[in-house]
Amino acid sequence: MRLALMAATAFASGLVMNAPASRAAEELNLICSADVVICEMLQQMFQKETSIQVNMVRLSSGETYAKIRAEARNPKTDVWWGGTGDPHLQAASENLTLEYKSPMLPELQDWAQKQAEASGFKTVGVYAGALGWGYNTDIFKQKNFKEPKCWADLLDPSLKGEIQMANPNSSGTAYTALATLVQIMGEEKAYEYLKKLNDNISQYTKSGSAPVKAAARGETAVGVVFMHDAVSQVVEGFPVKSVAPCEGTGYEIGSMSIVKGARNLENAKKWYDWALKAEVQSHMKDAKSFQLPSNSKAEVPKEAPKFEEIKLIDYDFATYGDPATRKRLLERWDREIGANAN
Ligand code: F6P
Repeated sequence: MRLALMAATAFASGLVMNAPASRAAEELNLICSADVVICEMLQQMFQKETSIQVNMVRLSSGETYAKIRAEARNPKTDVWWGGTGDPHLQAASENLTLEYKSPMLPELQDWAQKQAEASGFKTVGVYAGALGWGYNTDIFKQKNFKEPKCWADLLDPSLKGEIQMANPNSSGTAYTALATLVQIMGEEKAYEYLKKLNDNISQYTKSGSAPVKAAARGETAVGVVFMHDAVSQVVEGFPVKSVAPCEGTGYEIGSMSIVKGARNLENAKKWYDWALKAEVQSHMKDAKSFQLPSNSKAEVPKEAPKFEEIKLIDYDFATYGDPATRKRLLERWDREIGANAN
């Protein structure tokens, strides 16, 4: 009661209103959809260089897309860095992200610039990575499994319960896998394949790289992931081998977008230009992130899977980055596969 009275008196006398505003420090609200280690490293580097405080959360690509859609009227995020390009394109086509032509664009690889042009400059490529899987070589030796070199090999009945992949609703990696199989096999055959694969899947994880981290620890034999995520485990010293599927495979253009209505727009642009710099991208390998950097002057890590040695499909980003295609493919996945998951 006494406190309430004091507060009322202070308010009436203008003390509260005139109190020096505790001005928020310069801030940036960032969602990072790549591996948490690179997310934290970039956060620290940017804070140190600019004194802008970065409030960062790591969320998978599909989760971020859903969050940005849900917050469209009252955005809480300024920049979305990393994560597969499809949901960035989907967000762009729904006008959830802002057009921005960074002065850094001319320094980028063609594929990164094309990503920007295709979206009306509402997103841009920051790295690229090819899809494949990683398997635990010790488990394969102990259990006498045949090395899985092709998508078809993952259906081998001996691998029952031995494979993990992510859920394509939350994970951009798994959405890339779904879209890749549809492009390689045609939609009907791809869903038949995924139904059979489901017999061998022990778990659909939330994040895309979790399956190969589980394989590294010996919790599963195979993880369907981006090849660079398998390479990270090899570099960490785990008994993992990374595979490029023999039939061919899809790839991601990991992307970055500024959210429409960003509260810290100037800081968002600062981050955007900074994250496209060669010096910054050359540091990705320090966090054991082995994607191909989008700045053509950035150092390509020697561990990065070599695109020229991988049978890459001509991934149709326009179709699979379209919100209607996403909705249709995911609804069908939920009905035919997710509903019957182990
Ligand atoms: O771990 C890094 C990475 O594979 C990125 O290359 C990719 O953009 C991202 O993870 C996808 O994560 P998720 O599948 O969880 O959306």
